[in-house]
Amino acid sequence: MRVLANDGIHPDGQAMLEAAGFEVVTEKVAPDHLAEALQGFDALCVRSATKVRAALLDAAPHLKVIARGGVGMDNIDVEYAKSKGITVVNTPAASSQAVAELAMAHLLTISRFLHHANRHLATNGDFNSLKKQYEKGVQLKGKTMGIIGFGRIGQALARLALGAGMRVLPVDNYVQEARIDMSLPQFPEQPFAVTLQTVALETMLAQADYISVHVPGGQVLGAAEIAAMKRGVRLVNTARGGVIDETALLAALESGQIAAAALDVFDDEPTPNPALLTHPLISVTPHIGAATVEAQVNISLELAELIIKHCH
Ligand code: 3PG
Repeated sequence: MRVLANDGIHPDGQAMLEAAGFEVVTEKVAPDHLAEALQGFDALCVRSATKVRAALLDAAPHLKVIARGGVGMDNIDVEYAKSKGITVVNTPAASSQAVAELAMAHLLTISRFLHHANRHLATNGDFNSLKKQYEKGVQLKGKTMGIIGFGRIGQALARLALGAGMRVLPVDNYVQEARIDMSLPQFPEQPFAVTLQTVALETMLAQADYISVHVPGGQVLGAAEIAAMKRGVRLVNTARGGVIDETALLAALESGQIAAAALDVFDDEPTPNPALLTHPLISVTPHIGAATVEAQVNISLELAELIIKHCH
């Protein structure tokens, strides 16, 4: 059995596959040569970079499994693959904490101008004028956090936000409430949890000081929703490009309706609009939500297990 891990795989997962008798190839094949290369593989393992569209699937009759190391399946024609008898699997839970922690990092960054300081302190040279410029930093404690999408990642972020002393207003079309485990590893004998009810989108938009989006895709925040937010709101998008309308976001930063934003994902990856990348009020990262050692180890082991199960 042969696996092409075209976007890489953590060595732990690779070792697990090899111990089960699989040959794992991790050299990246360019899109133009992928169809030809796949002739010799039983499983294709991808992250978000490799696009697995219908034409590729038509050209790969021997493929048994497509394994997505991560959550989003928007780079794979899943239904078409299934119609051809190919099993498609992903690892929906393995990276939730990593994404939630990145959202929290961005939340703190845009509250205290960290992105701006990191870009300008070395080159600007005027320590005291930047210090003055950052005097309007704000604290998280006591603020209201809106979370759109109250699945695994949204709930992991809620736990972090509650821990920071924030009031959390979750929004979700399907989830009514969720129990958030607030237990601390240091005090295992004192278990503690809270139950959070979701609220209507309009209710949250009118009250939130911070909003973070955790849905699989589709535009959720356009000009109308931004207009319905509190003036001076701060937004974070670690979900998918397009979830927040980029043009409306830039206009709202200009008008002051949005005080600051953080983007890990963009409409045009891997070449996002430079106006977003260079904006003084936007903290940016290059789609690194799942990029922790822990998440990639978890993902690779879960993937290896799934590939072994479905290829034999
Ligand atoms: C996901 O959907 O799992 C995340 O967006 C991470 O994507 P990546 O594996 O390409 O970093």
